[in-house]
Amino acid sequence: MLARSALRTLSQSRQFSSSASRQTKVAVLGAGGGIGQPLSLLLKLNPLVSELSLYDIRGAPGVAADVSHIDSASEVYGYPADQLDKASRASRLSLSLPVCPASPMTRDDLFNTNASIVRDLAAAVARVAPEAHLLIISNPVNSTVPIVSEVLKKAGVYDARRVFGVTTLDVVRSARFLGSVTSSNPDDCKVTVVGGHSGPTIVPLLSQTTNGKAVKGEAYEKLVHRIQFGGDEVVKAKDGAGSATLSMAYAGAKFTNDLLRGLNGEKGVVVPTFVKSPLFEDKGIEYFSSSVELGPNGVEKIHPLGSLSAEEEKLLEACLPELKKNIEKGKAFVSQS
Ligand code: NAI
Repeated sequence: MLARSALRTLSQSRQFSSSASRQTKVAVLGAGGGIGQPLSLLLKLNPLVSELSLYDIRGAPGVAADVSHIDSASEVYGYPADQLDKASRASRLSLSLPVCPASPMTRDDLFNTNASIVRDLAAAVARVAPEAHLLIISNPVNSTVPIVSEVLKKAGVYDARRVFGVTTLDVVRSARFLGSVTSSNPDDCKVTVVGGHSGPTIVPLLSQTTNGKAVKGEAYEKLVHRIQFGGDEVVKAKDGAGSATLSMAYAGAKFTNDLLRGLNGEKGVVVPTFVKSPLFEDKGIEYFSSSVELGPNGVEKIHPLGSLSAEEEKLLEACLPELKKNIEKGKAFVSQS
């Protein structure tokens, strides 16, 4: 079951889609994996998607055949390993989420595995769908977004308004965990999460919500830690055999829906996402996650952080140097390859 707010958003999309363009091809690169399969399922339910193009080096045609039987209007096609170009061609959105099958767990391992895969996928999308919006789910997002951006720059098709690091899982977890701590409905616990998308670079601005403001002392410390390291709970519960897949698929589908609403001209769609940002450029930080207004061209407006509590200022202080390192690592990878 989708959460109530997501269902509401989907039904708003349904009303909206009657007047909006229905020609939206969405390509999922890595569709055979733990996130890719449920994400494909959720995208099949989205009326703003007219065509779903599922690609993976293994298993995508099977996932596509399965998902294609669902009784929504969109068409679904599956592409095997040698058909990346065909899968990506003319897509409006391209979601990238690969990792090697035996999921390694440290961020360094993830970088070593994913950096070259993400680089090559971005190069293919640049070639065959230069105007696509790229949604980067592949970790480490703090580095893969700069990698994709540098690849698009090299190909001469970079538009900062079209590259997004998907940090929505941090937002989803914040609402859920804050809801549990304060015995409130997560719908009433919308938290802006800023910074990056790993451990200490994740900065939830709890003081900006009525429910969050009420959490103090040890409870606050525990809540922040749980939001920053929520992924570890899932890895542990899965006995190291995988990371968050279902909640991530939900988060990825939610962000995709928000972006499609913005692209289709809906006003007032504002959500956190990791993008090229002016907010900390003076500190040498090119990419940053904050509340971003989504519109017909992708990123429409990057909102300032607003007022922070003393605790949040400290979290931000810890985030910035780490984030800078992660971004530089991604950029260096492309310049050296
Ligand atoms: P998985 O290992 O279950 O699936 C990955 C899929 O990518 C596999 O089906 C594999 O065959 C495919 N693949 C590998 N190389 C490929 C290539 N060159 N082209 C196309 N497909 C390729 O992994 P899972 O659990 O689905 O995770 C995917 C990614 O999402 C990982 O990088 C993970 O770290 C990241 N992630 C991101 C989160 C976020 O909040 N942004 C949260 C959780 C995971």
